[in-house]
Amino acid sequence: MREIVARAHGKVNLHLGVGDAREDGFHELVTVFQSLDLHDTLSLIVDDEVEVREGSIVSDLTVTGLDARYVPCNPTNLAWRGVDKLVDAYRARGLESAPSVRIHIRKGIPTAGGMAGGSADAAAALVATQALLSDYLPPLDPTELDALAGELGSDVPFTLRGGTMLGTGRGEQLTHMLSRGQYHWALVFSKKGLSTPRVFGHLDELRAQGRDLPPSLDTTELSKALMSGSPEQLAPLLVNDLQAAAVSLRSDIARTLKLGQQAGALAAIVSGSGPTCAFLCSSELHARDLLDDLLAEGLYSGAVAHGPTKGAYVLD
Ligand code: C5P
Repeated sequence: MREIVARAHGKVNLHLGVGDAREDGFHELVTVFQSLDLHDTLSLIVDDEVEVREGSIVSDLTVTGLDARYVPCNPTNLAWRGVDKLVDAYRARGLESAPSVRIHIRKGIPTAGGMAGGSADAAAALVATQALLSDYLPPLDPTELDALAGELGSDVPFTLRGGTMLGTGRGEQLTHMLSRGQYHWALVFSKKGLSTPRVFGHLDELRAQGRDLPPSLDTTELSKALMSGSPEQLAPLLVNDLQAAAVSLRSDIARTLKLGQQAGALAAIVSGSGPTCAFLCSSELHARDLLDDLLAEGLYSGAVAHGPTKGAYVLD
């Protein structure tokens, strides 16, 4: 037995502009991602004694850590699908057999929390499987890997690459953005997750009912603020078009955002489709104090995080 261990990070959207639903059901996005140091760790436990020639090389998947009870432990898990997808790509290039693996995921990113936790697991699975199969064939070129990541989910290419990126299309088309310095966040998690399709669908409903929720498509001022490295300049520019829908579905989110503002956050936003709330702070100490204050108010749980950080990688 040997183990290949990979890590991938969660994200917050500094800007999440949501356009109309497309024919394929996805929404056209203009988004700015920032990866955070909050992470999941994935292990491939490799059994070199058992060679698999067809079907999945994954024999089992286990999960521990934050929200572990909500994560599926079957082939629908994005990490399991990530391993299968990469093995299929290698088989198409002539791979005849690969060793059987078990997957173990240690969660630090909330599940169904709007922080790309499942996508991070898929990205970690891709880099870990690439490392496993590098004994057999040369690695895929990065654009091919990005394309496979995009097939797994809209946020998977970003969690694979990390940093600060502009995402367009359904969020999978990425361009690097310049960003100076580090940004400190207090994150407040929820006991219960929120379904991403439900939040997108609810935004469509609110718009159809005539609510004034135009898509936020301009990131010019935000990109200037990111170059300044100043959280005070960035704070008023954070935008999330999904926030109104998330708040409408879950009234506890509005209370959490309000408590964070009252406690002195520079900005309070829903992370992605929620329900995680992200509070931008002026320093790590500010983030720690703010989180302590919010948890003292009885909010469920949370963490302090900073970004940007890197993409998915294999640990030595
Ligand atoms: O790509 P992913 O599988 O993560 O998306 C989950 C769901 O979120 C989609 O099925 C869709 O309902 C919604 N979504 C969307 N527009 C996007 C990204 C996701 O409507 N750009």
